[in-house]
Amino acid sequence: MEKEQFSPKSVYRKFLELFDTQPILARSPGRINLIGEHTDYNEGFVMPAAINRDIVVAIDFSMDDHSTLFSVKNNEFFSFHTSDPARVKSPLWANYLLGVVRKIIDQGHAVKSFNCVVDGDVPTGAGLSSSAALECSFAFALDQLHQFNIPRQQLIFIAQWAEHNYAGVKCGIMDQFSSMMGLEGKAFVLDCRSLEFRYFPVNLNNSAIVLCDSMVKHSLASSAYNTRRMECEQGVKILRDHYPEVHSLRDATLQMVESQKAALPGKVYDRCTYVVQENQRVLDASKDLEKGDLAAFGKKMYATHEGLSRLYEVSCEELDFLVDEAKRIDGVLGARMMGGGFGGCTINFVIKDQVKNFINSMSGAYEKQFNVKMNTYIVSIKDGTGIIKI
Ligand code: GLA
Repeated sequence: MEKEQFSPKSVYRKFLELFDTQPILARSPGRINLIGEHTDYNEGFVMPAAINRDIVVAIDFSMDDHSTLFSVKNNEFFSFHTSDPARVKSPLWANYLLGVVRKIIDQGHAVKSFNCVVDGDVPTGAGLSSSAALECSFAFALDQLHQFNIPRQQLIFIAQWAEHNYAGVKCGIMDQFSSMMGLEGKAFVLDCRSLEFRYFPVNLNNSAIVLCDSMVKHSLASSAYNTRRMECEQGVKILRDHYPEVHSLRDATLQMVESQKAALPGKVYDRCTYVVQENQRVLDASKDLEKGDLAAFGKKMYATHEGLSRLYEVSCEELDFLVDEAKRIDGVLGARMMGGGFGGCTINFVIKDQVKNFINSMSGAYEKQFNVKMNTYIVSIKDGTGIIKI
C-alpha cells in the first residue's frame, strides 16, 4: 500500500491500523531562530519562534509489559521493556523517545506500557530542530496520557536531557523551549540564563521568511557542536582568572576578551569574540524589530552569518554560497545560516512580491554550483506543543 501523505489524521489512522485502540494525539513544531546563534549554551540571548511544521505522536496504553514505538518515516517498529528504556545503538530515532521515558521514570513517575506512532513534516538535519520537536511532542504525549501534570518548563528540560544523554548532543535550551512555548504570530527573546522571555509580534510588514535548505545533512555535526561548547568553556576559564565575575560568556565584554588575547588560544579568542558580539546583536536587533526596521535587522543577520562563518567556523561552502547569492538578489533584507550549522538551512527575509523570483534565482544558482536541487520553505509562525483533537 502506498504511504499516505503525512497529516495528524494519517498518524491517527496508522495507529488504529497497528494497535486497534483509541490514541490521544500530541504535536510539537520545528523552530526558526531569527537571530542569536550559539548563544544559548553560553547563557546568552536567542530570538526563536515555532513554525508550521510538526512532529505528531499518537499514543495509548498497551496491555503488556513492553512498550512499542513505530516510526512512519522509517517504517520501523521498536519495542522495549517499559521499566528499562536503555539507549540503543539502533534505531537511532528511538533514542529520542527512550531518553524521555528514562528521565520521566527517574523523576519518580510510574510510566505504564504504551504503544505509539510518530510521523511529521519537520525535515530532519535541516536545522529546524526536528529532534527537539520529536522529544517535546513525545514528552507531552506521555505526560498527557498518564496525567502526570508535569509543568511545561520541566518537560523542556526532560527533552533536553534526552538530547544530551541519548542523542549525545550537548545542546542549549533554545530548541526545546521554542517547540514547547511558541505562540502563533510571535517570536520571543529568551534569556537563556534566567529563562525569562518576552513574546513580541513578528511584524514582517510586506516581507516573508523563506528558508533555503542546502540539503547538506548536519548529522555528523554533533562532535563539532560539542567542541564549540568546550572551547567557550575554556574561554570562560581563562577570562575568569582576571575577571572573577565571568561565569559564562554572557558576562564577558569585548574589552575583556581583547585584554586577554595573548592568554586565549587563537580559536578560543575567535569563538569568544563571536559570542560576545552576537549577544549584543540580539539585544540591538530586538529594538530594530520593535521599530519595524527590517532593513537594520537584515544587516545584523548578515553580520551574524559573517561571525558564524569566520569566527565560530560552523558554516560550510554551501551555506556561505547561499548567503552570498541572497545578497545579490533584489528584495532580500537579510540572510544567514540558521541553527547549529555545518549544513541545514539559511533563513532569509524577502519582500513578498520578490519571493517567487528569489526562490527561482536561488534554486537555479544552487543547482548550477553544486548540482543539487534545494528545497525552500516559506514559513509561518505557529503555536508550540499541544494536543490535537481528531
Ligand atoms: C542547535 C542547538 C541549540 C543551539 C543552536 C545554535 O540547534 O540544539 O541549542 O545551540 O544549535 O544556536
